[in-house]
Amino acid sequence: MSNDRIVESFARQTLTMTAAAVFNDRDVLDALAQASGQAPGRRCIDVGCGPGIVVERLARCGGEVVGIDATPEMVRQAQERCRQAGLAHARVNVASAETLPFPDRHFDAAVSRATLHHVQDPFAVVAEMARVVRPGGRLVLVDIVCSDEPAEGDLHNALEILRDPSHTRMLPRSEFLRLGQAQGLHPIETRQWVQHRELREWVRIVNAPQRQWPLGVLMSCLAQAGRHAGIALQCDHDTVTFDHHLWMVVLQRPDEAVP
Ligand SMILES: C[S@@+](CC[C@H](N)C(=O)[O-])C[C@H]1O[C@@H](n2cnc3c(N)ncnc32)[C@H](O)[C@@H]1O
Repeated sequence: MSNDRIVESFARQTLTMTAAAVFNDRDVLDALAQASGQAPGRRCIDVGCGPGIVVERLARCGGEVVGIDATPEMVRQAQERCRQAGLAHARVNVASAETLPFPDRHFDAAVSRATLHHVQDPFAVVAEMARVVRPGGRLVLVDIVCSDEPAEGDLHNALEILRDPSHTRMLPRSEFLRLGQAQGLHPIETRQWVQHRELREWVRIVNAPQRQWPLGVLMSCLAQAGRHAGIALQCDHDTVTFDHHLWMVVLQRPDEAVP
């Protein structure tokens, strides 16, 4: 996925995502902030920070917070959000998740929500996040997962790509857990939220109304044929609903062995 497609898609979504209830869920934001360990005297990075909802929540814990995002419109929105909230200790800049412009071990924690399913190589992005976190520091990965049953997971991802062509791939739980294992990180907590979604609300976020009708036809047909895409896809009269499984995995970078 070229960054052009990311930037084009997310420039259009800046305001709709800012307003979307699913991105402002207090329970998720509070759990993420707590898992990060962010506090006065600590330094945290949010990778793919979008409109700055997570950055603001982390900055309210005190300490230094940095957000990075590939989409300049998102960065401007996040900067304005922090300015209006009077959070001068939060900084947001344009940067790529694949090459974070920070030295090794610079942060106490790195978090990322709803971004890994847009990158080409989530393992490379998690490796980069681990690089900038100090030994003993934390990574908090939050993303929607797909079914571990390959045909249902593929169907779910295909629907997501039709809704937003900047979507790359949601991972099944088993692969999501391997993101940290591949870096030698220790899992310390996992948590799941089931988010009940509705087609119109889901499409509204990407601000592309012309995609609603064809997706509605396709998803109703699938539901009627008993293909639930691993997300409990249902059609009741004109209303298409499904469940997203949002996962949070908290990982710790091991302390270095004393020579
Ligand atoms: C679905 S939004 C999530 C925003 C935010 N993390 C949140 O949960 O509120 C995904 C964000 O990731 C950014 N993004 C996607 N790929 C990226 C990359 N390779 N490097 C940096 N940002 C990226 C997009 O610009 C977009 O703002």
